[in-house]
Amino acid sequence: MKQLTNMNVQIVSDKLAGGQAGFNVFQQAIANGAKVLGLATGSTPVTIYEQLVASDLDFSQLTSVNLDEYVGLNADHPQSYHYFMQHHLFNQKPFANSYVPDGSNLDATAATHEYDQIIAENPIDLQLLGLGQNGHIGFNEPGTDPKSTTHKVALTSSTIAANARFFDDADEVPRYAYSMGIGSILQAKQILIVAYGEAKAAAVAAMIQGPVTPDVPASYLQTHPNVHVILDEAAASQLH
Ligand code: F6R
Repeated sequence: MKQLTNMNVQIVSDKLAGGQAGFNVFQQAIANGAKVLGLATGSTPVTIYEQLVASDLDFSQLTSVNLDEYVGLNADHPQSYHYFMQHHLFNQKPFANSYVPDGSNLDATAATHEYDQIIAENPIDLQLLGLGQNGHIGFNEPGTDPKSTTHKVALTSSTIAANARFFDDADEVPRYAYSMGIGSILQAKQILIVAYGEAKAAAVAAMIQGPVTPDVPASYLQTHPNVHVILDEAAASQLH
């Protein structure tokens, strides 16, 4: 385990080993009394969820709070993050309460205030994050206010284009998302961020060893006292 800045950096051989390492962080946090787990979607957390599902950990007394959701998709839409979480974790390991921003609520003020209230009532003990190639965390793209709480985000044209293949009709492709803010994420007691692959290497180096700047939202994790980073060799290749 390398200590670089304030972050504990753990380098693993591959995603499978990363899943085990991430599982260990969850298990330790729960053993230490964590009651609220902040969760993420995307490809990165899948091996951690596989380990959680295969384990005998019991989440029936715990609460989960997810990072983000597309606006305009109902919870049962196969491309919704709600659906992703059901499929990868909640169906097999139910929590007492699982919160995901309400993408079906088109009233952004109401939806984001409601979610901030949920986070305030359920302070996050451990927040799991993936990392975007441009340094984003959640849907907080470069330039996002580091104090931001839950907010509505306009998706970039490249994200919209990339998502189009998952939808029958171009009109269905979400243009917006609700995301916890950088400020919301930094409130978590502990943060676990995971990244795999060469495509993430520049963002990883900027996150850990670059200046703290709005250009790299993940660089604000340098200001948090308890961050654990799991990387494979490729993602760690630009650290020095
Ligand atoms: C997911 C999320 C995103 C992803 C990031 C990495 O809830 O908020 O920030 O964590 O885009 O995605 P993957 O893991 O697919 O490389």
